Amino acid sequence: MTQHWKLGVVGAGNMGSGIAQKMALEGLEVVLVDVSREQAARGLSRIEQSLREAAERGIFSQEQAEAALKRIVATDRFEDVRDADLVVEAVFEDLDVKGDVFSRLDRICEEKTILATNTSSLYVKDIARYTRRPDRVIGMHYFYHPAKNRLVEIVPHEATSADTIERTRLIGRLHGKTCIVVRDSPGFAVNRYFVPFLNESVRLLEEGVANIPTIEAAAKQAFEIGMGPFELMNVTGIPIAVHSAAYLAKEISEFYAPAKLLIEQSDKREDWDLGGEADESRFEIVSRRLYATVFGAAGAQVDEGVAGIEDTDRGAKIGLRWRRGPFELMNRVGVKQALAMVQELSDRRSGFPVPDIIRSRAAQGTPFAFRYVDYEVRNRIACLTINRPEALNALNPEVVEQLEQAFDRAQRDPEVRGIAVRGAGKAFVAGADIKFFLDCIRRGEMESNVAFTRRGHRLFRRFETSDKPTVAVLDGLSLGGGSELALACQAIVATEQGSLAFPESGLGIYPGLGGMLRMNLHLGRELAKYYTFTGSKLAAREAYELGIVTELVELEEVEAAIERLVQAEPRDKYRRKDFPAAYREYQTAFSDENVRRLLAGESVQGVSGELAKRLGKILSYKGLIALETMNRMIDRQSKLSIEESIELELDGLSSIFSTEDALAGLTAALSGERPTFRHTIGRSVAYHEHA
Ligand SMILES: NC(=O)c1ccc[n+]([C@@H]2O[C@H](COP(=O)([O-])OP(=O)(O)OC[C@H]3O[C@@H](n4cnc5c(N)ncnc54)[C@H](O)[C@@H]3O)[C@@H](O)[C@H]2O)c1
Repeated sequence: MTQHWKLGVVGAGNMGSGIAQKMALEGLEVVLVDVSREQAARGLSRIEQSLREAAERGIFSQEQAEAALKRIVATDRFEDVRDADLVVEAVFEDLDVKGDVFSRLDRICEEKTILATNTSSLYVKDIARYTRRPDRVIGMHYFYHPAKNRLVEIVPHEATSADTIERTRLIGRLHGKTCIVVRDSPGFAVNRYFVPFLNESVRLLEEGVANIPTIEAAAKQAFEIGMGPFELMNVTGIPIAVHSAAYLAKEISEFYAPAKLLIEQSDKREDWDLGGEADESRFEIVSRRLYATVFGAAGAQVDEGVAGIEDTDRGAKIGLRWRRGPFELMNRVGVKQALAMVQELSDRRSGFPVPDIIRSRAAQGTPFAFRYVDYEVRNRIACLTINRPEALNALNPEVVEQLEQAFDRAQRDPEVRGIAVRGAGKAFVAGADIKFFLDCIRRGEMESNVAFTRRGHRLFRRFETSDKPTVAVLDGLSLGGGSELALACQAIVATEQGSLAFPESGLGIYPGLGGMLRMNLHLGRELAKYYTFTGSKLAAREAYELGIVTELVELEEVEAAIERLVQAEPRDKYRRKDFPAAYREYQTAFSDENVRRLLAGESVQGVSGELAKRLGKILSYKGLIALETMNRMIDRQSKLSIEESIELELDGLSSIFSTEDALAGLTAALSGERPTFRHTIGRSVAYHEHA
């Protein structure tokens, strides 16, 4: 049974309206409450405008915008959230006001309702005191703009139940959020170092170390960010920076106290003047100080158990859109250097001790090592979560190695009866890391590429042949290597958000981790060619109709489906299936004779003119060498065992990656552009005609 979620948002201001907008866009029913009908209507019209602008820019369609709007009810009646599954409070940042709202919601709402607060500068535990359901009170800290920024810090307090945390995460995921769970502590896991970063920039100015343009430029360079701290404060509001810094100082130490100049600027109600010349000779001193501030504060929060190093970095990358998180930055400058910087600042200022985690890492002299695969056993099923959402969980050597270790651990544990693999955040796994491939090509290290792929193949084959059933949880998009991982699992449980696709031919390469061979086993040569040549997205529903996806369920039913699949009698996933009639035309389009025509730039026959035209167009953008290689490989793989097919894919890797097309395709993909291949169907035909 599909559960119909109902959500509530109280406070229709900047944050509340954006939160409701995102929930509705993702298909959830929302009641948006404010003190008066006028206030609620104002929130709704803000949403309307934001949706209209996004639709005009083509981010989604007009129909989607209208449908989203219909899912929102704006009201001044608190009673309307009575039966909500979760209510997010986003009213003024004031304990009395929030307390009132919470006690009122507690009286009105049903037992099941989770009450969440979007507070930035209050303890969740203090707000929970206003209710008789502290176990169902939690923080959900969104980032501005909440309809666009994917990060949500989920903040349980001491009494929040595990079930509440799980349900809140699920609801976060249902509206497209990437959640990190952090401890109920001042500034949570992002503002704890971000606010000091802003504040320290003002201190540098106040002390006369550098002028604003210098600090802006140095910070942008050091943190690889598009906007410096002063410009950011102009955008997000100087008073918020003062307020947040004062709160951190009150709760943590005087180090965090707002700079005098910051308070003055806030009182003047003026933006910072960003004009003037930057002085490059001051960059070093400015960046050292800002690094020290961020490293020291981030290290302290890890020491205190607020968040781990991975979530601390994720917060920066997803929430603040920094290129690297604090710990990755420490690796970049060197852990010993990082310690020296923090020590220097710590010696000068009180309330800023050197964190143990930095001290001990520097003593070891090795960079911080990050965990990208989480391991958890629930109900005797090992859950392997590829947790690199900032890169859509892309597979690189580290991820594959950690996935292998997690898989080994699950295999060794006699308690574990099944293995589920999933991706954190919005995607399942968006393919193999293109940057890794490119680096291999540029350095001329084709062997590392082959070795990486061989390792991946071996692991995927172990997923496929494991005695303990393996299940891929395809609840988001997958591409290339990610789709290949899903295909290698013994079963796939998907939600409507799931999808598979093979974009490789558009990058001048071929799917090298078993995509061709497994699509071939599932669908036969013709359809395997259709999907791998064209890169067409295979939506979860389609994959289900074709027998690739084992179960198609709602997100909240995923766990039960995994359980069923682990319990089920083993079945040959490649058994013969009847495909719906709609696919026949594609089979015809990719018959041997038609494939010959397609590759020669001729129109396919026996299908509608529309399809023939569309296929001609799609394939004209692909790398021809890749298409021809794939064609030969799929034909040969039809007569080979899985092991032999794998060897065939590995044998061809060096040569495909050595082509100019691969270099052009991968380079363009990394910069988000459409590649220009030297050999495409259109161009080779023109060449033949000339000749
Ligand atoms: N602005 C940010 O960048 C940001 C980021 C994260 C969290 N937050 C937090 O989100 C919360 C809201 O911030 P905002 O910027 O949206 O504020 P806002 O002033 O824009 O909106 C607050 C809204 O709450 C309504 N409200 C006040 N009292 C109410 C009550 N008793 N019942 C119902 N509605 C009530 C107001 O009418 C107003 O519409 C604050 O706790 C803030 O700390 C803000």
